[in-house]
Amino acid sequence: MVCGDGGRGNGTTMWRHMRRRAGSESTVYEVRLGGERAAAKKPVLSTSDDLDKFHYQLQLLCELDHPGLAKLIAAHARPPNYLMFFEYFEPPNLADKIHVEEWSPSIQQVVTIASYLAKTLQYLQILGIVHRDIKPANILLDKDLLPHLADFGLAMYQKDIKSVSAENWKSSGKPTGGFYKKNMVGTLIYMAPEILRKDLHTEKSDVYSFAISINELLTGVVPYTDLRAEAQVCISIHYTIFLQVRQLLSFLSEQFLDFSSNLDTLPARLMPLQKHL
Ligand SMILES: Nc1ncnc2c1ncn2[C@@H]1O[C@H](COP(=O)(O)OP(=O)(O)OP(=O)(O)O)[C@@H](O)[C@H]1O
Ligand SMILES: [Mg+2]
Repeated sequence: MVCGDGGRGNGTTMWRHMRRRAGSESTVYEVRLGGERAAAKKPVLSTSDDLDKFHYQLQLLCELDHPGLAKLIAAHARPPNYLMFFEYFEPPNLADKIHVEEWSPSIQQVVTIASYLAKTLQYLQILGIVHRDIKPANILLDKDLLPHLADFGLAMYQKDIKSVSAENWKSSGKPTGGFYKKNMVGTLIYMAPEILRKDLHTEKSDVYSFAISINELLTGVVPYTDLRAEAQVCISIHYTIFLQVRQLLSFLSEQFLDFSSNLDTLPARLMPLQKHL
């Protein structure tokens, strides 16, 4: 038993799972812990590296105490059960609130959520912690719709991120798979450009993901959906134009063939135009 009271170790845990929610790295259960509702997060631990990460995350979470976070209340960190228990927040998380409930918050509500979350990020920044996966699905809402940041599965102390030297792989020009696994983490559409360019995570990349999340809250649109739609429209317009021009070209070719005996070169001259379309 680590970090606080409760847990199976001292017999105060009522382990009764009522509902579960699967993330990619773990399953979150709704449980009773000492009579209180809690969220139990059971990570998938398949390698010793996963186990090290679990202990790292646990140690980091034990350092945290802020109202803008989903608070760790207990943990079990001995075989065969590796679990973390958190203060429970009723669904939906912010992502489901926006996209499933189709919530349209007022500007005041957006400002409240943004400033509350910004203070939480500031708190983490002061402690030198980078979250690395800020996104609406990792933001839980309380009954007053105030945001609580969750999912510290990728969080790290900045000093530990720096210990993987950027120079090592940049100079070789070819980062190892290990580097990518350690550093290209997070969720692509919320990732800051410097992370996509393979720089290291900093508190600034968290701020970028925060801004993308607030944009999603304001617009109700998943990042880059509009670009994808635009790209599709562009492709279909180009394809329609291409078909029409091709028809026109073949019509013109036929016309020319009637009048000229020297038209063998024409398709060659027309082809580059088709290619551009
Ligand atoms: N304290 C909590 N109270 C209520 N629900 C929670 C709590 N913590 C997590 N959840 C729910 O479980 C989901 C997955 O949790 P979390 O993000 O911590 O796990 P994960 O395995 O890292 O998931 P993913 O890889 O999808 O981000 C959250 O999006 C949220 O809906
Ligand atoms: Mg998550």
